[in-house]
Amino acid sequence: MVTLTIDGRKISVKEGTTILDAAVLLGIRIPTLCKVENFPPSASCFLCAVKIEGRKNLAPSCATPAEDGMIVHTDSDEVRASRKTSLELLLSDHVGDCIGPCRTGCPAVLDIPGFVTGIAGGDFRRAAEIALDYLTVPASLGRICPRLCEQRCHRCETGEPLSIRNLHRLAADRDLKSESRYIPRKEKATGKKVAVVGTGPAGLSAAHHLLRRGHRVVLFDSRSAPGGMLRWAIPAFRLPREVLKLEIDVIRKLGAEFRLNTKLGADMTLDDLRRDYDAVFLAIGAQGSKSLGCRGEEHAVPALDFLGEVAEGRRPEIGRDVLILGGGNTAMDASRTAVRLGARGVKVLYRRSRREMPCLMSEVEAAEEEGVGLETLVAPVELSRGENGKLRLVCRRMELGKPDQSGRARPVPVPGSEFTLEADMVIAAIGQSVESESLRAKDLSLTGWGIEARLSTLATSIEGVFAGGDAVTGADLAVRAVAAGKLAAVSIDQYLNGRPVQGDPDMITVLMGKMGEEELAAFFRNIEETPRAPMPEVPAEERVNDFREVEIGFSEETAVREAERCMGCGCAKADTCRLRQYATEYGADPLRFSGARRRFQRDLTHPEIIYEPGKCILCGACVAAAAEAGSGLGLAIVGRGFDAAVAVPLKGTMIEALPEAARRVAEVCPTGAFSLRSSCLCKMIRN
Ligand SMILES: Cc1cc2nc3c(=O)[nH]c(=O)nc-3n(C[C@H](O)[C@H](O)[C@H](O)COP(=O)(O)OP(=O)(O)OC[C@H]3O[C@@H](n4cnc5c(N)ncnc54)[C@H](O)[C@@H]3O)c2cc1C
Ligand code: SF4
Ligand code: SF4
Ligand code: SF4
Ligand code: FES
Repeated sequence: MVTLTIDGRKISVKEGTTILDAAVLLGIRIPTLCKVENFPPSASCFLCAVKIEGRKNLAPSCATPAEDGMIVHTDSDEVRASRKTSLELLLSDHVGDCIGPCRTGCPAVLDIPGFVTGIAGGDFRRAAEIALDYLTVPASLGRICPRLCEQRCHRCETGEPLSIRNLHRLAADRDLKSESRYIPRKEKATGKKVAVVGTGPAGLSAAHHLLRRGHRVVLFDSRSAPGGMLRWAIPAFRLPREVLKLEIDVIRKLGAEFRLNTKLGADMTLDDLRRDYDAVFLAIGAQGSKSLGCRGEEHAVPALDFLGEVAEGRRPEIGRDVLILGGGNTAMDASRTAVRLGARGVKVLYRRSRREMPCLMSEVEAAEEEGVGLETLVAPVELSRGENGKLRLVCRRMELGKPDQSGRARPVPVPGSEFTLEADMVIAAIGQSVESESLRAKDLSLTGWGIEARLSTLATSIEGVFAGGDAVTGADLAVRAVAAGKLAAVSIDQYLNGRPVQGDPDMITVLMGKMGEEELAAFFRNIEETPRAPMPEVPAEERVNDFREVEIGFSEETAVREAERCMGCGCAKADTCRLRQYATEYGADPLRFSGARRRFQRDLTHPEIIYEPGKCILCGACVAAAAEAGSGLGLAIVGRGFDAAVAVPLKGTMIEALPEAARRVAEVCPTGAFSLRSSCLCKMIRN
């Protein structure tokens, strides 16, 4: 027997026992990657490294025998730093996507392969559940989100992306119409009470996730109906009021109390809320309209006022000629609303070029189809009312200069280029600001554009007060507000339970990035190239006469066909991969040593398993498992250094290598290098 001390605790073990096994007997956890139970150590990953007093270098505990009198440290700063570096080295040439790149594009990290697989398999209910769990208002976002996810879809690399937004719209729409709608389950009541100020997407999402965690939630809003900009700014022809209302009904059914027509700063103060509630979430959005900054700007109507009036159900008299200043969503919505109110000479004036417009090009195209004119590289100089009663807008032509802070080319005035336009109405749609006067509270820190909140937790400078959405970022996107609401709910829940407030630490995600030609060929082998399903629309000449929804939505058949295009990207072992788990635990940066990465390859020749050499950490566990089975050619590590890889000896096939041991090999592989075909989400690969 030998006696050693591990982390200050003495233990006697049989001679020949490794430090790792001795630590296990003491209940001390040392991370291991390449060590597989019942197999001899390969000591290749160095993750199990420990400090032995008196030795200069750290030692791999899985391969170092315990010695009498040894003093071992398993979790010192030096040890942790070494493990982090080992993991970063392992990740430096790793090739794979832990989760589908589409998911990393969606700010709410919607489980896209998950819900799309539901649709492809005809399980619309499951798809709707996933969409609601992540997005809170999936039918609304299914109409207005700028599809950040689709830009990252692997399908873009050879053709058109999957129509993700339209698919979660279809799944959610079906649920809205169903008699047994999905209402998420709630945890036991905690007795805690949270005030949420603002019922836009940020407030609604926070309420949804807090209610599910068993907290009581009271939502306050200064307006007469909930929904924020989705209710009061985005026009019904893009987002019908009824859709939003039905989505908010789920939050009511979860038990939310709404106190409408109640304004923070007028009807109550932040101090009142802090006194009466256990926590507060400020989600008041960016309700202020930025002014034009030119002479006579008071003659222009702020776009939010104009859209708000229409959202209240009124049809303001606007005349025939309407000029809209701005180039974002708000400008496009105002122009298309003006057309529907009868104006025919509607023109959007934007100071940069079409390429720089901060809205989806499809919105510009839809407006143009409806007869809206667009004049770019134009800025206002002076607005006045002429003797004929019409407004006179003096403009100046601009040209593009060097990029400004936003990275976009700065518009520079062209001297002597002034010209005048006449209009019945001029609408200013050049941006929104956070109305911070309602927030006046002694200790609440503000930034130049909103409330100051920690990025990782959304905690503000006041304990128990959190903030998110446009109120923190300035005018932004609904899906980012939804993501902020969820993050706030996680942080608030931690706060209410007396746990450290640390937000929602994400698992580390490795992404493959852009693929080369050979890689694309390997990636798309077995995959059929099919066109993206177009969204049916009401023809422009019909839709300009009323506020009916323009985009009609997919039929179920179209949705299933479109969903079948999804390749279920993401690693089959994303939830069990130990490399990913440890990389997360030790805060490894996958890009720290990034340089030349391995080439993406995928071996699909075995009917039971998938082999992706780019995910191999050369631990040898698969080689040992194949040898243990004793049948077939088995596996071997061939090549050296950067070129070393697991392969079948004698140039044999995977079937010849693993006639019986394939499942066992997938089981012992600590990463997704070997995985089961049955756990792959892609039907085209699974079958
Ligand atoms: C015209 C327009 C078009 C847009 N189009 C799109 C689009 O196509 N896609 C997209 O993703 N995003 C779009 N956006 C942006 C998107 O709507 C916002 O980013 C999103 O609504 C922000 O959510 P929020 O919850 O932070 O704030 P908001 O939606 O602004 O909600 C804030 C709520 O707080 C309430 N409130 C404010 N002050 C107080 C107070 N003192 N007391 C009580 N209540 C208060 C308000 O009444 C409001 O209901 C658009 C915005 C506009 C204006
Ligand atoms: S093997 Fe692990 S680290 Fe690699 S892609 Fe799969 S889950 Fe991510
Ligand atoms: S919310 Fe937007 S980014 Fe997220 S999945 Fe839907 S369309 Fe894509
Ligand atoms: S094919 Fe499917 S899983 Fe793959 S990136 Fe596109 S949407 Fe995501
Ligand atoms: S070196 Fe010990 S587990 Fe890898």
